[in-house]
Amino acid sequence: MKIYVPGDAAAKALGADDVARAVVTEAAARGVEVTVVRNGSRGMIWLEPLVEVVTEYGRMGFGPMSVADVPALFGDIEAHPKALGLTEELPWMKRQTRLTFARVGVVDPLSLKDYELHHGLKGLRRAIAMEPAAIVQEVTDSGLRGRGGAGFPTGIKWKTVHDAQAPQKYIVCNADEGDSATFADRMLMEGDPFTLIEGMAIAGLAVGATKGYVYTRSEYPDAVSQMQKAIEVARAGGVLGTSVLGSGRAFDMEVRVGAGAYVCGEETSLLNSLEGKRGVVRAKPPLPALEGFMARPTVVNNVISLASVPVIMDRGAAFYKNFGMGRSHGTMALQIAGNVRFGGLFETAFGLSLGEIVDDIGGGTASGRPVKAVQVGGPLGAWFPRELFDTPFTYEDFAAKGGLIGHAGLTIADDTVDMLKMARFAMEFCAIESCGKCTPCRIGAVRGVETLDRIGGGDASGIPLLTDLCETMKSGSLCALGGFTPYPVMSALTHFPDDFTATHKEAAE
Ligand code: NAI
Ligand code: SF4
Repeated sequence: MKIYVPGDAAAKALGADDVARAVVTEAAARGVEVTVVRNGSRGMIWLEPLVEVVTEYGRMGFGPMSVADVPALFGDIEAHPKALGLTEELPWMKRQTRLTFARVGVVDPLSLKDYELHHGLKGLRRAIAMEPAAIVQEVTDSGLRGRGGAGFPTGIKWKTVHDAQAPQKYIVCNADEGDSATFADRMLMEGDPFTLIEGMAIAGLAVGATKGYVYTRSEYPDAVSQMQKAIEVARAGGVLGTSVLGSGRAFDMEVRVGAGAYVCGEETSLLNSLEGKRGVVRAKPPLPALEGFMARPTVVNNVISLASVPVIMDRGAAFYKNFGMGRSHGTMALQIAGNVRFGGLFETAFGLSLGEIVDDIGGGTASGRPVKAVQVGGPLGAWFPRELFDTPFTYEDFAAKGGLIGHAGLTIADDTVDMLKMARFAMEFCAIESCGKCTPCRIGAVRGVETLDRIGGGDASGIPLLTDLCETMKSGSLCALGGFTPYPVMSALTHFPDDFTATHKEAAE
């Protein structure tokens, strides 16, 4: 009997380890031979721990499972009270286009054999047979853009590094996933680490880099240990090391763990931290692509950008480019969170409307109350009211509405949320996480909190001051932390002005 019990951190937080132990104990007590695979999460967090039993029809899902539900798995499973049917047939799964996350939740994360059985290493093998410039061109042609948030074309970034002359180049994976409501990087590293390794190896071959680093956070201990184990397996299997799968071209990598400062997700601050320095933002230029890690040309890409490369190299640029809308090509791993009924990871082509994502896929709020607003793109993203729910999920459409899609984290809030408090939270977050290098952010965020407190106290004269301050932070900050904090603040003020007036507060009290 083969049973999958997710080893993903979210599933573990919901009791997956206890369930896995109970499966082994129950099987032993019944004299049943059982193989338990600790897979990644399928992304349906409300069903975790989602246990799957391999049957002659496919993998049958059960969830959310508790220890008490385990014995019934060994009886008539179709009559099990937590039976969901075949996992692949669940509506949430069927509606997705899983390209980057195709293997997450499906494979045994640390089995290279299982990886290869599910199309793994095909992209790398194809890349090995190509000239570096042709790999860069393929990634450029796919239309892939940086999934960390900025959406810069990945192929153009790689070309800059490819064209640079230097004795040493590097691939740095930004896995310092700090945005609220985001967990795609973590889920991929835990559930399918070889995809990231393969993507980094392809990037290395493309630009002539022989060394890579995954920079992640100490809050991700499971992802850290999973990546470290997978790197060992990949080395033993010839995917990493001096002779990447027999080509004679070397590429190796290691994991580095930061201490959890949000600003270390900003690429230059990350590079400083990686070099053992304080995580302070560097002025650009020079671009990291020309002077990055140890002042050498460096590709800095997000986990999902790099993990999307293997499928592009395997299926071809045109296949990937055909998904999406406008200039937003391919798929995006939406992370649906906050006050939502069906939260989790949903990979889909760009172009769904925000309303479809929140109401249809997310199922509305967990509280059952009306949705008031959705913050898209983490703590630096704008709040979108229901009137903007027809906005298609693309880089351009969100920018046109005064927002950003960022790393595709969506935080849903019901009608009890106070938008002035949310604006204050954004300013306070900026004040706490500021690296202190530039004045608009270091001082501006502190003044922003004070001004919002004045407005909350009934002083309407604070509103033009806040607007002015936001303009200064937006245009004068050195990096996105100070520069984008005005997005949540100004969107809250613009779309929900009533929450900023004294009469509203008095009525509420
Ligand atoms: P950016 O627009 O300054 O740069 C984008 C990328 O393109 C950088 O890697 C830059 O070095 C590179 N680049 C620009 N011109 C280039 C050229 N000619 N050749 C090669 N490379 C070039 O944006 P930034 O500051 O790197 O990122 C801001 C974004 O980060 C925001 O949109 C925000 O959504 C996101 N973010 C994501 C977080 C997460 O947890 N994933 C956390 C915080 C912010
Ligand atoms: Fe540092 Fe803030 Fe300036 Fe960015 S905007 S460099 S975090 S002080």
